[in-house]
Amino acid sequence: MSDSPFNPDEPTIGIADAIVFFGASGDLAYKKIFPALQAMVLRRDFDIPIIGVAFSNWTNEQLLQRARESVRKFYPSASDDDFARLAKLLRYVDGDYHKIETFDKLRVELGDAKIPMHYLAIPPSLFPTVIEGLAKSKCAVNARVIVEKPFGRDLQSARSLNRVLHAVFNEADIFRIDHYLGKEAVQNLVFFRFGNTFLEPIWNRHYVKSVQITLAENFGIAGRGKLYEETGVIRDVIQNHLLQVVGFLAMEPPTRTYADSMRDEQVKVFRMIRPLNGDNLVRGQFKGYRREEGVASHSQVETYAAVRLFIDSWRWEGVPFFIRAGKFLPHTVTEVLVELKRPPIAKFFPHLGNYVRFRLNPQLRIGIGARVKHAGEAWTGETVELSALKAKNSDEMDPYERLLGDAMDGEGILFTREDAVEAAWQIVQPVLGPSATPVFEYDQGTWGPREADLLVAEWGGWHTPAVES
Ligand code: BG6
Repeated sequence: MSDSPFNPDEPTIGIADAIVFFGASGDLAYKKIFPALQAMVLRRDFDIPIIGVAFSNWTNEQLLQRARESVRKFYPSASDDDFARLAKLLRYVDGDYHKIETFDKLRVELGDAKIPMHYLAIPPSLFPTVIEGLAKSKCAVNARVIVEKPFGRDLQSARSLNRVLHAVFNEADIFRIDHYLGKEAVQNLVFFRFGNTFLEPIWNRHYVKSVQITLAENFGIAGRGKLYEETGVIRDVIQNHLLQVVGFLAMEPPTRTYADSMRDEQVKVFRMIRPLNGDNLVRGQFKGYRREEGVASHSQVETYAAVRLFIDSWRWEGVPFFIRAGKFLPHTVTEVLVELKRPPIAKFFPHLGNYVRFRLNPQLRIGIGARVKHAGEAWTGETVELSALKAKNSDEMDPYERLLGDAMDGEGILFTREDAVEAAWQIVQPVLGPSATPVFEYDQGTWGPREADLLVAEWGGWHTPAVES
């Protein structure tokens, strides 16, 4: 825990009975929040106020119109009747976040709600203002707060953000969304590891040669030039989403004796990862990035990064964990490949042989690579994959529905705790900033700069995720 002034009150207990979301006219609300609210209204059948707040000079009708468009586009299976159930609960508060009247209006809309939940879907620069408004207007009493990534842009700003939050909210009432933790496929990493007896004996430095995690996207920065200039791929997806994946792959089994054990194990992994340095990082930038709107003509911001991490633990000593992530790569795919060491007789095992592969996106698939003999006289073989494909079922929730529902219930396991945020920043902190390492250009549609191959050369090169139908 940091030494921030900690709210001494007890955490709230019970299910939230009002949902407030700031940034109601914004992009996140349009793409993710309205569809999640629609799903929640149908699944939970609740009857509580859902209040959108924005400073857009909108009317209630405009909010409803926006919600309707969003649900039509991103939750197309909802019928008109389904939407009517959401619309009945939606209210709108318009106002400047710097003015207390805005929060007084919100207080009135909250009525006799006992446990309001405030979702800050707004730029982090506005967090202090909104949190102060919530506190002064008493909207923060017995309340929960949800914040979106980025949780700061380095260790120092993350700490100051945590101080701002803790001045008003108890840590147990702060829900930091990393939507990767809401994904079924990511949760399944933990389940598959600890739900299968055959895995545990080999899940360590004695049997694992290396781990590779690829998050590839075949599109660019989609008009987010200004924002991307402030982030780059290390801050955008490595410090958060992909370190969470490393944490799930590497952690010790959580216990069942207390609820926060999984997050404790996750933080322990982050603390054992050696902070990055220039020898373990290759940064790239796709050709054309500097011509994007909002991007500096000499920008050194990376749109690709490959890193080699080492976890200084008993289990993982000497096993490299590689991560590569980038924009404008050949496909959109997220995949983990855990490669096992080869048996001592090389002829049974010439190249990539035994591995466990977790395809996380676009669909969950788990594959186990095994060697089998070719028919015939020769002792030659091939690698086949034993594969489990998990089709979506009707209980599957979109990450935002899952996470908003958990926050309503006060269930924090799938949210990033303060200590995890800070430990994750500590890992990338030494390589933040344009001068940390050179940035190499790469052609769009390729797997990034060639320089990144050197990082993995000793371990057999990058594994290229196959395109699957
Ligand atoms: C977001 C990043 O957090 O995650 C985006 O800001 C990235 O740049 C996205 O594209 C990836 O998430 P998903 O769920 O599409 O794999």
